Amino acid sequence: MPHDLFLAAREAMAKCYAPYSKFPVGAAIRTADGRVFAGGNIEVASYPEGWCAETTALGHYVMAGGGAIVEIAVVAERMDRITPCGGCRQRLAEFARSDTKLYLCDQAGIVETVTMGQMLPYGFEGETLK
Ligand code: THU
Repeated sequence: MPHDLFLAAREAMAKCYAPYSKFPVGAAIRTADGRVFAGGNIEVASYPEGWCAETTALGHYVMAGGGAIVEIAVVAERMDRITPCGGCRQRLAEFARSDTKLYLCDQAGIVETVTMGQMLPYGFEGETLK
């Protein structure tokens, strides 16, 4: 149920640490085997050292062993239909597929569904670095 993933993202958003921007964000990732990893943004007084909700969620996902990502949800308290920042698009693309669904949400639920391929066309791919 995509709505469950939205709820996981919203729950994570409530646990964020964003005292400087006061712009809470939550993200949730679901793997093909049904596991869900969520995270909120975490800020630091030295502003550039903070990081995004998507990055927190990805950290949980990688540390749990990773796996195929089938769905991602993102929500922000003060913005309807937030889209991941450029850096997070690249981070998500590292582990997702181009057909991975990305749910863009408002406070009540999913308002638009796009794919990672649509979010990051012509993204840099690390295949040749291997
Ligand atoms: N932020 C995210 O968590 N995800 C995004 O995709 C965009 C921005 C956070 C970073 C910072 O803590 C706050 O939103 C304001 O930029």
